[in-house]
Parts: sequence; structure tokens; C-alpha cells
Amino acid sequence: MKRTRVDAALNAESAMPELVIKGWVRTKRDSKGFSFLEINDGSCLKNIQVVIDHTPEIEAVLEQIGTGAAVSISGELVESPGKGQKWEVRGNGIELIGFADPESFPLQKKRHTDEFLRSIAHLRPRTNKYGAMFRIRSELSWAVHQFFRDKGYYYVHTPIITGSDCEGAGEMFRVTSLGYEDLKKSTEEQLEQDFFGQESHLTVSGQLSAEMFALALGGVYTFGPTFRAENSNTARHAAEFWMVEPEVAFADLNDNMDLGEEMIKYLIGHVLDKCAQDIELFAKFVDKSLMPTLENILNNSFERLPYTEAIELLSKCKKSKKFEYKAEYGLDLQTEHERYLSEEHFKKPVIVYDYPVEIKPFYMRLNDDEKTVGAMDILVPRIGELIGGSQREERLDVLERRINELGLEPEDYWWYLDSRRFGSAPHSGFGMGFERMLMMITGVTNIRDVIPFPRTPSSLDF
Ligand code: 4AD
Ligand code: MG
Repeated sequence: MKRTRVDAALNAESAMPELVIKGWVRTKRDSKGFSFLEINDGSCLKNIQVVIDHTPEIEAVLEQIGTGAAVSISGELVESPGKGQKWEVRGNGIELIGFADPESFPLQKKRHTDEFLRSIAHLRPRTNKYGAMFRIRSELSWAVHQFFRDKGYYYVHTPIITGSDCEGAGEMFRVTSLGYEDLKKSTEEQLEQDFFGQESHLTVSGQLSAEMFALALGGVYTFGPTFRAENSNTARHAAEFWMVEPEVAFADLNDNMDLGEEMIKYLIGHVLDKCAQDIELFAKFVDKSLMPTLENILNNSFERLPYTEAIELLSKCKKSKKFEYKAEYGLDLQTEHERYLSEEHFKKPVIVYDYPVEIKPFYMRLNDDEKTVGAMDILVPRIGELIGGSQREERLDVLERRINELGLEPEDYWWYLDSRRFGSAPHSGFGMGFERMLMMITGVTNIRDVIPFPRTPSSLDF
């Protein structure tokens, strides 16, 4: 018989004379003559309760079953006399699919710390919290596609291996087919013998490729893994993370801000709607102010503030002396500044725009003042920077000048520059850190706890 998922059984319209449930035992309690089991199959947060009468055969199986075991239970779905659930299973058969030794199975009934669960990342999806997290993560991915699809934007698969550095921050992982021995050879020799015959890296952003497609298909987005070898061991940075990057032709910086704000609100709304039960867990046990925070984001328009005014505000505010880093014109905003602006001052998301040209990459559009570029960052409470984007420099001469000023090789960007040679057009885009969005939606404060298997400096388990 085909198994019935636990979510389907719990939401059944009527009793079922026959069904099979397959899942993992969360708890087992034995009474005289019968046993209670709580079974979870990952289809939803809730377990289904099973009551099963003892027969000699059933008792023999039950003896080998403890928390963590995989089982199959056949029986009927009946109204539950107990509180807290409408339906339960009256079992009449039980089969042990996979034994779990109760002596060594690490997930016991008590609450475990996030640190401990990180050390068993392969088993943590079997807990309530991480089951909920990864169901939400899946739903949020779908929501990203839904949002852009409804707008008629096309999904582009941009390459993971690349020969160009989009952000110019030198935080790239090298890709090579050479062995350790070859690394002793001269650079020229290595490049000659290496797979691509040139330097190659894991991408830090799909933007440059996405721009080519925006200038052909109108509106596109890429959504894939990106890699950064920044050695910052923070709760917000991972070496491998997913980024959502829309790129839109005939759109300026304001259109870009509108799109970012609309997308953030859409994604929150979608998840609140589709994952209500799972979100409730986080609102109850992880962050008591989660719901008001999310509703506040949904119901207010984001503050929009030029960088110059943000610096002024930060250097004059009461808290300015308490910042670890000074907020000064010409320096990037630090997380503490970003959080102050959105969390304490405006108490809602803030879009800071028009950053000094010196601190931004070559592709951002130079403003008429020639001192700032059309960049925008969306800062949100508790996370800081969630989105980074810009209007792109569409003027060939200005772009070439910027590439030269930054000491980059124009030949490396010949194909990128071609797009400005042939039918160039104003266009804009941004990147949203998918994990940071997930942190915001769940109130979880460490990026390691929203990725199935996190990759951070000196940490590559699993
Ligand atoms: O601001 P970033 O560096 O922007 C870009 O890469 C642009 N090329 C994007 C574009 O315009 N298409 O990164 C974008 C976002 C950040 O705002 C942040 O949310 C996230 O990516 N991010 C990280 N998330 C986790 N770990 C890291 N190490 C991250 N670095 C950036
Ligand atoms: Mg950024």
C-alpha cells in the first residue's frame, strides 16, 4: 500500500479505514497492553500519534524501536480522543525499517544547543527547528522563482566557474586541475598546463553574465551558489552562499529600489502564508519579536537616504561614540552602522544610495557629480545589508575609463564592453543574499543555521 504523508493524514477530511505511515520515531511510550508512538516524516512540523495494541509479534518489534528509528505503521486513521490533535492512527501492524541504537543516537528528547546541532549537521534536519528551517528554505526558493516569473523575467543559469572578478575585491577561490606538485612550477608554466589555460575561479556573483542577458531578454534573474574567500568569521558571512540577482534593461536606480522593496515584501508575505506552522515555531522559541518585525517590514515603505546623509546622521547621533568603527565619508558602512540606521533610528528597512565612487566596483554608473555612483544597499533590522545593487554604467567611454582607473585589463572584459558597443541601454540590478533573507524571516542570528551544510573558514565537514 502507498504511504500516506503525515501532513495529509493530519489534514484529512474524514477517517480512513486503512493507511500506511512511514517515518521516524520521535518518542515511544509503553503502557500496559499498548504503546504510544509519535511519528514524524518531515512533511510538516507536527508528528502523528500512533496507538498500537500489543500482540506478541508487535511487542517483539516494539522492543527494537526507540527514538530515531525508521518505521512503517499500518492501521486506520481515527478521531483522536486526546487533546491537541484531530486524528491519530490506530496501528495494527508495525515494521522496523531502520534501527537506531538508543545508546548512540545523538538526538534525545531534550532541547539541544545550536552549537551542538551544528556539529551534527547531517542529523539536525530531524529536529523540529531544523526541519522547519529547511522546509521554509525550500518554500522561499520557490517564492523567488514565482515572484520573477509573475513579472515575466527569465531565469538564467550563469556560470559557476569564471575568468573574471565581478566585485574586484580579490576574494575568489581559485579553480585548478593541477596537483599540489605542479604548484611549485612557475606561474607561466602553471597557467599553460592548467585546465583552462588561464586563471579561473569560482564566481562571486553572476551579475556580469546576467547583464548580457538583460540586454537581450529585457528582464532576467539568476539564483545560484556564489563563493567568497573572505576570511571574516562572522555570523553573516559564509564562503558558499546563494544569491538572487535580477537584472533589468531600461531600469534606473529608482526602479531598482522599487524592485528590491517589492521583492522583499513579496517573499515575506509568501512565506508567512505558506509556512505558517513552521514560522510559528521561530516566533515562539527563537525570536519573540519576529512577527511584529516582519509585519513592520510589510506595512511600511522603506526609508531612502543618500549615503552622504547617512554618514552625517551616523556621525552626529547619540550612539556615534559607541561605534567600534567611525562612520566617515569615504568608508564603507559597517554592520553596526547599518543596524543602527534600520533597527534604532528609522526602525524599518533603509535604502542607502549614491555611494562614493572609490569604495564601489567598476561597473556602477557614475553620477553627474563624478564623486558618487548609482549604488544602493537595502539594510534591514538585525541583519544589516540584505541587498546590494546599482544602476550599471552603460556609457562605453566612462566604463573604459573606470576599468583603466582601477588597474583592470580592458581585454579581460572585451565581451562585457561589447554590450556597451552594440545597443547599450540603461539597466540595473542587485544581489540579495538568500541566507540573510532566511535569517530575517526566521529570526535566526547565525548564517550557519540556515544553510544545510555551511562552509566557513577552516570548516568543511559534511
Ligand atoms: O553586495 P554584494 O557583494 O553585491 C554583488 O555581488 C553584486 N554583484 C550583486 C548584483 O548587483 N547583482 O553581494 C550581494 C548580497 C549582499 O547584500 C549580501 O546579502 C550577500 O549578497 N552576501 C553574502 N551573504 C552571505 N555570505 C557572504 N559572504 C556574503 N557576501 C555577500
Ligand atoms: Mg555589498
